[in-house]
Amino acid sequence: MSNKQFDVVVIGGGPGGYIAAIRAAQLGYNVACVDEWKNSKGGPAPGGTCTNVGCIPSKALLQSSEHFEQAGHSFADHGINVQGLSLDIAKMLARKDTVVKQNNDGILYLFKKNKISFFHGRASFAKTDETGYEIKVTGAAEESISGKHIVVATGSNARSLPGAEFDEEFILSNDGALRIGAVPKKLGLIGAGVIGLEMGSVWRRLGAEVTVLEGLPTFLGAVDEQIAKEAKKAFDKQGLKIELGVKIGEIKKGADGVSIAYTSAKGEAQTLDVDRLIVSIGRVPNTIGLNAEAVGLALDERGAITVDDECKTNLPNVWAIGDVVRGPMLAHKAEEEGVAVAERIAGQHGHVNFNTVPWVIYTHPEIAWVGQTEQQLKASGRAYKAGTFPFLANGRARALGDTTGMVKFLADATTDEILGVHMVGPQVSELISEAVVAMEFKASAEDIARICHAHPSLSEATKEAALAVDKRTLNF
Ligand code: FAD
Ligand code: NAI
Repeated sequence: MSNKQFDVVVIGGGPGGYIAAIRAAQLGYNVACVDEWKNSKGGPAPGGTCTNVGCIPSKALLQSSEHFEQAGHSFADHGINVQGLSLDIAKMLARKDTVVKQNNDGILYLFKKNKISFFHGRASFAKTDETGYEIKVTGAAEESISGKHIVVATGSNARSLPGAEFDEEFILSNDGALRIGAVPKKLGLIGAGVIGLEMGSVWRRLGAEVTVLEGLPTFLGAVDEQIAKEAKKAFDKQGLKIELGVKIGEIKKGADGVSIAYTSAKGEAQTLDVDRLIVSIGRVPNTIGLNAEAVGLALDERGAITVDDECKTNLPNVWAIGDVVRGPMLAHKAEEEGVAVAERIAGQHGHVNFNTVPWVIYTHPEIAWVGQTEQQLKASGRAYKAGTFPFLANGRARALGDTTGMVKFLADATTDEILGVHMVGPQVSELISEAVVAMEFKASAEDIARICHAHPSLSEATKEAALAVDKRTLNF
C-alpha cells in the first residue's frame, strides 16, 4: 500500500461526506476526505450539491426573490410605499455566490480545525488487500492514499429527459436554474416536485411567466393530501401554472428558446414554447469515476450503492451514505448517516430514525412534514385521530400578514401517540422541529397540547392543532 495511510478515507465532501469526516476525526481517527468539486476559479469547493448547486444557493435566491415580491406586493399593506422598485439580477446572483463561498470556506476551515487531510480531486478505487483499500486521487491533487475504512458519499446528479440533454443554456438542470442571467419572459419546468416548485417560485417572483408540467395526475403525491391541496390553492393564486397528468413528447431547441410538445391530461396535443426550460424530474445516484468494479462494490438496479440498514456495503469496511444510497435525497439524512457510520466504525451504536426525517419545501407558503400522512394511515388500516388549526386564527400570523395554511396532527386513536405532523404556512420550516422532537420522544398529541408556547407566536398553531386532536381548540 502507498505511504499516505489513513484510518478512514471519505470519498465526497458533501453534507454526508464532510460530516462523516468530522465525526470520525472527533472519535480520534486519522481521516482523509477527497472531493472533486471546483469553484469558478478551479479551486476546491467542498459542500457538494447541497452547498454549490442545491440547498444553499436555492435558499439564497428564494430569500432574495421573496424580498422582491414583498416589496412589490405586500409592503403597501403595511403602509410602506415603494417607488421605483427594480431588480439587479447580477447582484442577486453574486450575493448567492458569496453565500455559497462562505459555506465552502467554512468547510475548509472545519477540515483544518479537525485535522482532516483534504484532497482536491477525484477518488477511485485502485485495489484492496488485507490492510484496506488503495484509493487513487486524480485532478488538482495526484495521490495514492489508503484507508482501513472507506466511506463513499458521492451524491447524485440531475436526471435528464432522453432527447433533451442539459446544455445549461436553454435546457437547465438545477445547476443552470440557479444562474439564469436575465429573467426569462417565459419559463417552463418539467416535474412539479421539490425543485420544480422552489425554482418555479424564484423565477415567477422575479417576473417570469412560469408553467410547470407534471407527469403524475396528483399534485405532490408524497405530501398529506389536505396540505397539498391547500398549497396548490396558494400557488394557483400566485399565478404559478401547474399542469398535472401530462405526457411529455418531443422537446425541440430553437435559436432562442425551447418548444415542448406534450399531451394534456384530457388527451389533447399541446405545445409549450418557452425561453428557458428547467428539467426537474428527480436525481440519480452518482458513482461516475469511482471505479466500483475494481473492488466489486455492488450497485442496485437504480445505480445506487447497495447498503444494509447500517450503511454497510457488500465489501468489508466499505460504507456508503447520502444520495448515493437508498432513502430520501436530503442533506440532513446524509448528515445523520455520516455521523452514524463514523460511530459504527468506532464500535458505537450509530442511529438514524427514518420515521422522523423531516421534509421541507421552501416555497411560500412553506410546506413541512414529518411521519405518516393521512392517506398512508388509511392505507395501512391504522386507527387515528386528526386535528387541524388554521394560521388564519393565529395572532402572530395576522400580525405578519401571512395567514395562509394550517398545522395538522395525526395521532393514534387509542394511545394518542403522534404519528405525523403536516404543515403549510409561514415559517413552518422552523416549526416542524418541535414535531420532530415530539415524535423522537414518542410524545402524545396531549403532551404538546399541555406545553406552554410563547404568545404571540406561530408555534401556538402547533399547540392548537394538538388540542384539536381532542376537539378542544381554544382559539378556533
Ligand atoms: P452531494 O452533496 O451530492 O456531495 C457529493 C460530493 O462528492 C460532491 O461534492 C461531488 O463532487 C463529490 N464526488 C463525487 N464523486 C467523487 C469522486 N469519485 N471523487 C471525489 N469526489 C467525488 N436537501 C435538503 O435537505 N434541503 C434542501 O433545501 C435541499 N435543496 C436542494 C435544492 C436543489 C436544487 C438540489 C439539487 C438538491 C437539494 N437538496 C436539499 C438535496 C441535497 O442537496 C442532497 O440530498 C445532498 O447534497 C446529498 O448529500 P451527499 O453528501 O450525499 O452528496
Ligand atoms: P422530485 O422527485 O421531488 O420531483 C420530480 C417530479 O417530476 C415528480 O413529481 C415526478 O412525478 C415528475 N416527473 C418525473 N418524470 C417525469 C416526466 N417524464 N414528465 C413529467 N414529470 C415527471 O425531484 P426533483 O424536484 O428533481 O428534486 C430531486 C430531489 O432533490 C428531491 O426529491 C429532494 O430529495 C431533493 N431536493 C430537496 C429539497 C428540499 O429539501 N427542500 C429542494 C430541492 C431538491
